[in-house]
Amino acid sequence: MPAPAIDLTTRAHQWLEPVLAPGGTALDATCGNGHDTLFLARAVAPGGTVHAFDLQAAAIERSRRRLDAAATGTAIQWYQRDHAGLADVLESIRLDAAMFNLGWLPRSDSNIITTPASTTAALAAAVALLRPGARLTVICYRGHAGGAREAAAVRAWLETARIRLLAREPDQPAPGAPVLYAIEPL
Ligand SMILES: C[S@@+](CC[C@H](N)C(=O)[O-])C[C@H]1O[C@@H](n2cnc3c(N)ncnc32)[C@H](O)[C@@H]1O
Repeated sequence: MPAPAIDLTTRAHQWLEPVLAPGGTALDATCGNGHDTLFLARAVAPGGTVHAFDLQAAAIERSRRRLDAAATGTAIQWYQRDHAGLADVLESIRLDAAMFNLGWLPRSDSNIITTPASTTAALAAAVALLRPGARLTVICYRGHAGGAREAAAVRAWLETARIRLLAREPDQPAPGAPVLYAIEPL
């Protein structure tokens, strides 16, 4: 992932911090190497729960190791499956926050990437589970093959979804640069 992603991940955490508290419930829709899962786990400790999805066994394994080492005390529910079907397993769970950090798993097969159809289906499913006042962040990477198309699909989805856009960062992204959106449900 390009270097600016680090800053956008930090910014995503900053957008979510105000809505996270001990005992809360959060979703990491793309757990990858577990950095965002760890952030969420610390923010809802003690007594909270994080639901962490990823298609790849390697991602679940890496994230699980990171979370085990950090011993946050937060309950982590791991799901090795497509986040497009997250409603099937989360059912009536209500979320305080959700994170989507799109793209591929660093240090892994860069052909396994998030895609427009499953990403927008998962975003819609996650928004439906957000409590009033909850927040969702999505970081779109536009530099890799398929990234610009996915980012365009996310932008189109944002225009029709029942959400309020809190932020788009950077405001004027350079061509191909990643973009962060922070939203809340209407
Ligand atoms: C940029 S990484 C996520 C980084 C991660 N949040 C972290 O903190 O390390 C994107 C992840 O999305 C996963 N992914 C791709 N398509 C997916 C899908 N349809 N459902 C769930 N995860 C998916 C990839 O396997 C990859 O691990």
